[in-house]
Amino acid sequence: MTTEETLAHIAKEVSVCQKCALYHSRKNSVPGEGPANSEIMCIGEGPGFHENEQGRPFVGAAGQFLNELLAQAGMKREEVWIGNVVKCRPPGNRDPLPEELSACNEYLERQIAAINPKIIITLGRFSMGKYMPGAKISSVHGQMRRIGDRFVIAMFHPAAALHQASLKPAIMKDFAQLPKLLEQARAALKRSAPTQVETPPEEPKQLSLF
Ligand code: URA
Ligand code: SF4
Repeated sequence: MTTEETLAHIAKEVSVCQKCALYHSRKNSVPGEGPANSEIMCIGEGPGFHENEQGRPFVGAAGQFLNELLAQAGMKREEVWIGNVVKCRPPGNRDPLPEELSACNEYLERQIAAINPKIIITLGRFSMGKYMPGAKISSVHGQMRRIGDRFVIAMFHPAAALHQASLKPAIMKDFAQLPKLLEQARAALKRSAPTQVETPPEEPKQLSLF
């Protein structure tokens, strides 16, 4: 299966998933979207009102701001993968519950494995918690950490920055670092890529008669 096919297959499973109670109230599940070969995956919390209506991630006010933050970093939204830790809208935009996060985690894990991004940007507390349990977003935001075969950068949630003006300069500064951090991630992952061991062609055995 190609990565595109794997992602489409996951999206299909998500569209009929009943693994947690959130399926009762969803209009559309929101599997996430973006190129199969994205170097960056942005992972938010869960669908809100507009996302539930359209079945697409980050299409409301927070999404508009995310598009601006990416543009400011010289990136197009279409160049990165965008999704969430839960694929169905929590009623009234309440926080996702631990059992909902753990039920839905499998889909995100499979998406990450399929795409194999260099950088995961966690947007907000819930996706940060997946990689940096117990971390305080106010102290770790914008720092890139190597976790296994990739890098993770925790950032404030764009919706939080819209509601709390004091967070806006920080999230803007963190996104502005992204081109530089992507260069660093590319270089580091290139260095540590497992080198292909080439078996030298077998020397023809020369039988010397002299
Ligand atoms: N907030 C999120 O966390 N995800 C979305 O898709 C939209 C808003
Ligand atoms: Fe399934 Fe995730 Fe939707 Fe729950 S939130 S029903 S686990 S797709």
